[in-house]
Amino acid sequence: MTRLATVDDTREFGRRLATILRAGDLVLLSGPLGAGKTALAQGLGAGLAVQGDITSPTFVIARVHRGALPMVHADAYRLGDRPDPRLEIDDLDLDASADDAVTVVEWGEGLAEHLNEDYLLVRIDRGENDDTRVIDLEPHGGDWAARLEKL
Ligand SMILES: Nc1ncnc2c1ncn2[C@@H]1O[C@H](COP(=O)(O)OP(=O)(O)O)[C@@H](O)[C@H]1O
Ligand SMILES: [Mg+2]
Repeated sequence: MTRLATVDDTREFGRRLATILRAGDLVLLSGPLGAGKTALAQGLGAGLAVQGDITSPTFVIARVHRGALPMVHADAYRLGDRPDPRLEIDDLDLDASADDAVTVVEWGEGLAEHLNEDYLLVRIDRGENDDTRVIDLEPHGGDWAARLEKL
């Protein structure tokens, strides 16, 4: 559990988290609207040094950001209305393979776990009345728990 007082702290947290990421990783971001999921994704993108501005991909579902380790940034929010709302990255015909990239999914909890056997769930919550956010990292399978200890 980490407290992040400002949006810059959240971006910095993303930069640090990026240091333990590698090709094929799946990172799910959960938390209410305005929690800071996109801000965290911006920090991840900065840490990975990928190209292009990272903005909320709500209207395109997913975007590929090129780099030595590319980042697929997806937003599952609108998928919730569909009969089968699960995110299928392969169906999006992206110019990237999930095996070669880090895949980061906003609103991914409950909709994107099936994309990988192992994943990291990042929960972000708003504080009571200031800008503080509380972030919690939940390892699921693989060596995620060991990798988190290196943070
Ligand atoms: N500590 C903080 N961490 C992240 N965002 C913060 C923080 N304090 C204030 N904010 C603001 O909250 C908003 C978070 O927006 P965004 O990252 O788009 O959220 P989400 O993608 O979860 O809907 C931004 O306007 C940001 O400036
Ligand atoms: Mg967002």
